[in-house]
Amino acid sequence: MRRNILSMADLETSDIVSILDAAERERLPRVLEGKGAALIFEHPSARTRNAAEMAVFRLGGHPISIRGDEIGIDRRESAEDIALTLASYHSVIGARVTDHQTLVRMAEALEGAGSRVPVINLLSNVEHPSQALADLLTIRQHFGELKGRKVAFIGDANNVALSLAIGCALVGASFSLAAPKGFWFGEVALGTLRSSGGEFIQTEDVISVASGADVLYSDVWVSMGEEEEGASKRAAFSGFSIDDSLLEHAREDAIVMHCLPAHRGEEVSASVIDGPRSMIWLQARNRMFSLIGLISVLLEEDGSS
Ligand code: CP
Ligand code: NVA
Repeated sequence: MRRNILSMADLETSDIVSILDAAERERLPRVLEGKGAALIFEHPSARTRNAAEMAVFRLGGHPISIRGDEIGIDRRESAEDIALTLASYHSVIGARVTDHQTLVRMAEALEGAGSRVPVINLLSNVEHPSQALADLLTIRQHFGELKGRKVAFIGDANNVALSLAIGCALVGASFSLAAPKGFWFGEVALGTLRSSGGEFIQTEDVISVASGADVLYSDVWVSMGEEEEGASKRAAFSGFSIDDSLLEHAREDAIVMHCLPAHRGEEVSASVIDGPRSMIWLQARNRMFSLIGLISVLLEEDGSS
């Protein structure tokens, strides 16, 4: 497995299976015994910070969460110097960043210095792979297998959508996106998706995407860092919501997923997200287990256990 997990495309199908299996182990390996994990957050977080801290703790380690303004990436000092500093105390670096390139630069600086400390993307403007691992774990737990599942994403072709789409391609699930045309995946994302293989469509036709789906997934229309575009995006996405009438087009046993935080009455109705088909609390809980799986597999492969 690759050392740095900045994108779902850094994983192979067999890596995903290993991570999801490791997420479900009853006895956890103490791969972080006596070691630290630095967790950087340039954006707010409820789930990721707590899931990552508890994952590190359960693996025997000591997490230190760091707010972006404490270290001032590229203001107080460079991303490279911060990565090299943190790697001298910690065995894992996780980071939620405003600019995906910050992760790339941190990983390159560590590799260039011969460090074996992995960098994990805890959300960037491009991808959210630790979310996608939790989503795949949730779908696998609910349906028993991932292959052949039909995932319908109603909303922005954002970080969450791209990581989930790549993840679906890698595990043999289909992924369809329904969004206004101006908010579909761009050429770079499409290139990553095509090289991951798999079935994929994007369309403005919400009903065709929902029809026969096993999973109806939504995320906020306005992601962190996009606040200035908020009003225009909300207007453009009107109608691209999951509600009871859309749910009727999905399979009878379909589930509803959302990475959270949610805006009830915008991308999803309260009756759906708080209804019997909703998997949001299992999904949120699985953030911790999938991070346990990811970190333990990364460190076990490295022989540091
Ligand atoms: N889903 C997710 O990443 O939530 P947080 O932003 O609260 O971490
Ligand atoms: N797309 C959202 C996900 C939040 C977990 C954002 O980037 O804000």
